[in-house]
Amino acid sequence: MSEGRSGAGGRMSRRALVIGGTGMLSPAVQVLADEGYEVFRPSRGQGGTGGWIKADWTDPSRFARIVTQHVGHPVDLFVLWAHRPYRAEIAPLLRPLVGPATVVVEVIGSAQFRDTGEDRDIAGSRLVVLGRAAGTHGERWLTHAEISEGVLDARHAPPGAVRFVGTAPV
Ligand SMILES: NC(=O)c1ccc[n+]([C@@H]2O[C@H](COP(=O)([O-])OP(=O)(O)OC[C@H]3O[C@@H](n4cnc5c(N)ncnc54)[C@H](OP(=O)(O)O)[C@@H]3O)[C@@H](O)[C@H]2O)c1
Repeated sequence: MSEGRSGAGGRMSRRALVIGGTGMLSPAVQVLADEGYEVFRPSRGQGGTGGWIKADWTDPSRFARIVTQHVGHPVDLFVLWAHRPYRAEIAPLLRPLVGPATVVVEVIGSAQFRDTGEDRDIAGSRLVVLGRAAGTHGERWLTHAEISEGVLDARHAPPGAVRFVGTAPV
C-alpha cells in the first residue's frame, strides 16, 4: 500500500482519490466508503461532507495544489475522470499522489479511445472505456451504477489493462 501508511498492517484505512467523484462515479465512491476507504472527491460544487475538496480543474495548477495539499501523500487508489484538455494538464501535476503501489484507473468515453498510449494520461493505468448499452429503444447511455461497477472492477485488472463498459468501439 502507499508509503506503508495504510492498508498493509491495518494501521490506517485505505485512501482513494476520485476525480469526478461527485458525478456519475458517486455510486463507486459509496462502495469505496462502505469498504472502509477514506475517499477524497475534488469538485466545484457541493460534495457534502467527508472527503469533499472544493477545487476547479480549469485552473490546473491551483487545482493540483489544493488537492495535493489536502491529500498529502500517495493514495491506494486513484480514479481519474476529467474532461479534456484539463485531464492531461492535471494528471502530471497530481503525480505526488501516485506511489509505486497506487492503483490508477482512468475513465474515458469511447469517442476518445484510440487504442494508443495517448489514451492514458498516467502510464500503466487501468483504462476504462465507456461505451453504450442496449436499451428498449436502441442504444442508451450507461447508468451511473454500470459505470461505477466497471470502474470498481478495473481495480482488480493488471496494470495497463483496457476494460470496456458497454459496447466496445468497432
Ligand atoms: N458512454 C457513456 O455512457 C457515458 C460517457 C460519459 C458520460 N456519460 C454520461 O454523461 C453524463 C455527464 O457526464 P459528465 O462528464 O458531466 O460527468 P459527471 O460525472 O456527471 O460530472 C462530472 C464530474 O466532474 C466534476 N467536474 C466537472 N467540471 C469540473 C471542474 N471544472 N473542476 C472540478 N470538477 C469538475 C463534477 O463535479 P462539479 O460539477 O461539482 O464540479 C462531477 O463530479 C454523466 O452523468 C454520464 O451518465 C455517459
